[in-house]
Amino acid sequence: MYNYRLMNPPDQVKGRRGFFRTVLMFLSLGASYGLALLFAVRYLLPGRGNRKKSRIFVSTVQELKPGDSKSFTTPDGETFLLTNTGTGISPFIAFSSRCPHLGCKVHWQDRESRFFCPCHGGAFNIEGKAVEGPPLKGNQTLKPCEIRVIGSAIYAMVERT
Ligand code: FES
Repeated sequence: MYNYRLMNPPDQVKGRRGFFRTVLMFLSLGASYGLALLFAVRYLLPGRGNRKKSRIFVSTVQELKPGDSKSFTTPDGETFLLTNTGTGISPFIAFSSRCPHLGCKVHWQDRESRFFCPCHGGAFNIEGKAVEGPPLKGNQTLKPCEIRVIGSAIYAMVERT
């Protein structure tokens, strides 16, 4: 049976349907453009998002005796020194092996409890702060790397690339 009202709705119903269709269309367009904009911003500014860290195994606690230092390289190519200072609750520290003055390689001097740069006599304490030489004049510090000891394994926490 042919229902005239269903097949040919009055103009008032057509107007309401048209209005809701238009609203839904604009909401869908807004959501689509919003998502596209969000992805574009995250792609163009990767540092602004939630950058998670991952851990890389560096050494065992038994392997790194007090006074020992071991170098490791992060996935982005930066070299760090994991050092057992032999003091404190957590004796393990890690700093970049690159001197912030002119980029020479620093090494750990256990007797003096410091990192030393042979190029111009720069020295850094166990917190990575300059205590001698040109880096002290420039108030420079060694770049730190977060360390985690889980069980008997020592990990470096590095940004995911
Ligand atoms: Fe290290 Fe100059 S490069 S003190």
